[in-house]
Amino acid sequence: MTLKQTTRAAVMALLLCGAAAPALAQTSSAQAPIPAILMTPEAHDIHSYAQPLVARVTHVDLDLTADFAAKQMKGSAALDIAAAPGAKEVVLDTKGLVIHGVTDDKGQALPWTLGKADPILGAPLTVTLNGARRIVVSYDSAPDGAALQWLDPAQTAGKKKPYLFSQGEAILNRTWIPTQDSPGIRQTWTARIVAPEGLKAVMSAEMLTPEGEPAAGGRAYRFKMDKPVASYLIAVAIGDLAFEPLGQRTGVYTEPSVMKKTAYEFVDVEKMVEAAESLYGPYAWGRYDLLVLPPSFPFGGMENPRLTFATPTVIAGDRSLVSLVAHELAHSWSGNLVNNATWSDFWLNEGFTVYFENRIMEKLYGPERAAMLADLGWSDLQSAIADAGGMTGPDTRLHLDLAGRDPDDGMTDIAYEKGATFLRTIEKAVGRARWDAYLKDYFARHAFQSQTTAGFVADLRANLIKGDPKLEAEIGIDQWVYQPGLPDNAVHVKSGAFPAVDALAAAYAKGGTPPIAKWKAWSTPERTRFIASLPRKLSSERLASLDAAFGLSTQGNSEIRFVWLELAVENRYQPAVTSLEAFLTDQGRRKFVAPLFKDLMAQGDWGQPIAKRIYAKTRPLYHAVTRQTVDAIVK
Ligand code: BES
Ligand code: ZN
Repeated sequence: MTLKQTTRAAVMALLLCGAAAPALAQTSSAQAPIPAILMTPEAHDIHSYAQPLVARVTHVDLDLTADFAAKQMKGSAALDIAAAPGAKEVVLDTKGLVIHGVTDDKGQALPWTLGKADPILGAPLTVTLNGARRIVVSYDSAPDGAALQWLDPAQTAGKKKPYLFSQGEAILNRTWIPTQDSPGIRQTWTARIVAPEGLKAVMSAEMLTPEGEPAAGGRAYRFKMDKPVASYLIAVAIGDLAFEPLGQRTGVYTEPSVMKKTAYEFVDVEKMVEAAESLYGPYAWGRYDLLVLPPSFPFGGMENPRLTFATPTVIAGDRSLVSLVAHELAHSWSGNLVNNATWSDFWLNEGFTVYFENRIMEKLYGPERAAMLADLGWSDLQSAIADAGGMTGPDTRLHLDLAGRDPDDGMTDIAYEKGATFLRTIEKAVGRARWDAYLKDYFARHAFQSQTTAGFVADLRANLIKGDPKLEAEIGIDQWVYQPGLPDNAVHVKSGAFPAVDALAAAYAKGGTPPIAKWKAWSTPERTRFIASLPRKLSSERLASLDAAFGLSTQGNSEIRFVWLELAVENRYQPAVTSLEAFLTDQGRRKFVAPLFKDLMAQGDWGQPIAKRIYAKTRPLYHAVTRQTVDAIVK
């Protein structure tokens, strides 16, 4: 038994003693019943110190000042605690925080200790409750806290004002919020954020003061999220931000100088929300806005409730990469309404979302565009399986074993693409109408709750399979979810357009001329497919004629530029290095940056010096998430 399991057994004993009298105490939050899912062993979160069955955070009130000079958030977090009878302490997650003190809601000091810091998990903050059901932690975040990136003006579009943004998923929010940073512990929250004069603060919540209020040290912005959310979904950004409405309940925030092209790219967002609602039920969060960040944002997008954070690399100028918005929007159901209870259940967030994203794309842009995207996803799945050690690789399982690991290690395309493929396989077995009805009902029944893989499987059996032995055998749920590899019944959605693209790629590889007219007519997925399906080894002459014909090295479309640069690096194609260096400098999206550095490092004497030279220059520009990954690649 591990230490944590021992504690857990003790907790269960404590709870069982008090079972006749359910967890009750004086204040209303303290009466909040323990969510049923948290009582199941599968919901035990190895990436948090919290002991939610003893004492659980139900609500957070942040009061923070963004100190740009010191690169620190400074202030307090007041937490409402639901505690079991007899609970003496509450355990919070922290990483790198400087704790100044803890009091109860009357200002009485409470005893606290900060445990030993683990490199992945950070340090537990244990507070003796002395009967309190609301505690106030005064603290500062560390200047190098991983969730927060403090940008110099030079790293923004406008180049004049600094910028701050946070990225919480998976376990980074403990670097700026001392709470129970576990996806199974949902919390409502409010925040008051003081930003320097001339900058605007936005958060993943209702904005109570869009213009801010005068405050010492700048302007104060207040926010409220009255729906319980997982802690990784609390997000903030501060910068020179403009807003432009896109529709009734949709809009976009970004820096003024890039607003025009940004708003152009996202005209369809309101329609996307409608399409999503028509599939799986009402949008539960009120507004749906986007925040398009500076280029160092480490992800394509992040589904922060009410305010998706997005990379500017999605702006292609022709709206061709908007499936990313469909993806983040879909998380408003699969992820934010019903989210993974632990990081081992990550596929419940991402697999469902990739499936749902594709259904939104199909509704809005038709079956062929959706099929092309799904087919590209199938290729990504094959690569992900190969990267994870082939069909027997343990990380090809949907339900992950993350013991002793950073959750980030398990977050591969397996969760995304095998997860989505599993759902397509179920859809095929039961028929779309029945599957859609089940999913809609599933989201409604589990709204604002966390879910485990075991919980989903049980729900699927109870409400969809209903004991039908033929269906059970046809789908093979347990193999899909708990075994490595890809089951034989996996549904591969094939694009009707790709065979012709593949044929042209093969012809080009054999010495044909670049298919210029076709390229002009092709959509982004077709162009991506063409480059990706060329043989990995091509002569400099072949690469040069491609580059000249399609302007690959100066591509503004980030997805096409990326697949081109991968091909170029694999062939040690020197003329593309300038373009490569610019791409690695101008944006810090991990999905692009990490594979390119990996490809360079794989090219021995040619690639390694290039990787080291470029990374020495670009490392300070990247967010901690990207840096951590690339550090491990470029040693
Ligand atoms: N929730 C993820 C981003 C994420 C994953 C953050 C794991 C931290 C840990 C987001 O929804 C996502 O999947 N983004 C993708 C884009 C999408 C279109 C597949 C990305 O960033 O590439
Ligand atoms: Zn996602």
